[in-house]
Amino acid sequence: MNRSELERVARALVVKGKGILAADESSGTIKKRFDVIKLDSTEEHRRAYREMLFTAPGAADSLSGVILFDETIHQKTRDGIPFPDYLAQHGVIPGIKVDAGAKPLAGFPGETITEGLDGLRERLLEYRKLGARFAKWRAVIDIGEGIPTAFAVRANAHALARYAALCQEQEIVPIVEPEVLMDGAHSIDRCEEVTDRVLEEVFHALHEHRIYLEGMILKPNMVISGKKSPTQAGPEQVAQSTVRCLKRRVPAAVPGIAFLSGGQSPEEATLHLSLMNQLGALPWSLTFSYGRALQDTALKGWGGTSAGLAAGQTELAKRARLNGLATLGRYQPALESQAA
Ligand code: 13P
Repeated sequence: MNRSELERVARALVVKGKGILAADESSGTIKKRFDVIKLDSTEEHRRAYREMLFTAPGAADSLSGVILFDETIHQKTRDGIPFPDYLAQHGVIPGIKVDAGAKPLAGFPGETITEGLDGLRERLLEYRKLGARFAKWRAVIDIGEGIPTAFAVRANAHALARYAALCQEQEIVPIVEPEVLMDGAHSIDRCEEVTDRVLEEVFHALHEHRIYLEGMILKPNMVISGKKSPTQAGPEQVAQSTVRCLKRRVPAAVPGIAFLSGGQSPEEATLHLSLMNQLGALPWSLTFSYGRALQDTALKGWGGTSAGLAAGQTELAKRARLNGLATLGRYQPALESQAA
């Protein structure tokens, strides 16, 4: 393992002013996104959509990396340049989602375990040859009646750590993503309690698996009220609770934390990140690794037509720029109307 190379890439991914675009939707998920704009999910439509995102003028100024899906890392621009090469040529680090999805955990109704460890070493070798310098694995923890159980949290932490160890062996920076879902009716306090337990287990497992913390990125959920909760915590409380929770559980050796958006609106996700970055000196860089919060407006602007190309690209560049400002604590909601 080349530790200095892992650390160099990890630091580049969380450099101030930039963040990560998660464009690694599996075929099932991208179909759901395309359904919203009434577009068939064909391979060419998926390619054209990703090309629209990756070639958006100005977006690369605020993007350190892009996470690709297996199909996407093998696809090319219309001019025949493989996507990972195109991104690297524009100073954006290509990454790859390597998990095979969250599947029902046998014996634990309502809980999941993320699969994809079998053959992972060989797949990582292949992805590295294609240009990937970092990877992503998402564990999913739902909050509900009697869940999460301690066992499901431990099982997912173990899988995340095994994945991270294989990545570092192949000189690929692991993004470790334990997502506590915001879909439930729980309070922000319950989200904090569960996120605290999950992060404790994850860092315990990472330690046991001898992970080089300086060469990884954490991708957590924010500490936030469940979507169906009757009381919604305000943005300042989300920022304070999230930073408090992370300070308790994430070692200072980790160079950066790149949040998922998890179903927040684009504006909320940007505001929360900016408020956190205004909370004074932090031991790690705080940035974004958003999927929906970066793509939703771009997808609608594009609408699946070549006439919508420029509109889609303008929307992506706008969200990337505003989130870049949020990594510096410099986002204001008033910028939304000016930045189109
Ligand atoms: P969202 O920002 O849409 O939650 O997606 C981020 C991601 O990569 C989930 O795995």
